Amino acid sequence: MLSIIFRHKNFKKSYLANEGNTILEVARKYNVEIEGSCEGSLACSTCHILLEEKWFNKLIPANEEEKELLGLLPDLKKHSRLGCQIKLTKNLDGIEIILPNNV
Ligand code: FES
Repeated sequence: MLSIIFRHKNFKKSYLANEGNTILEVARKYNVEIEGSCEGSLACSTCHILLEEKWFNKLIPANEEEKELLGLLPDLKKHSRLGCQIKLTKNLDGIEIILPNNV
């Protein structure tokens, strides 16, 4: 099991997750508010999340499809990603996910 932290405004809580789960799957499991309306098929960008640089740099870089969707976001930030595209691996144990302000 790995730990994953979700953070939004005054909310910050740590949860347990299995390796191989996506951030969207973990959020769903614990009712954390990430929409993910296309169920991870790279067709919506409603699973937008933010990361601190140290965690962002540990991720496998976004592919072209993900980059295209990210580019359409009005609130795109330097360390934005799509939560459905990030699978948890051992080196991401303790990762902190910041929910965008429009959540
Ligand atoms: S859930 Fe639609 S792109 Fe992630």
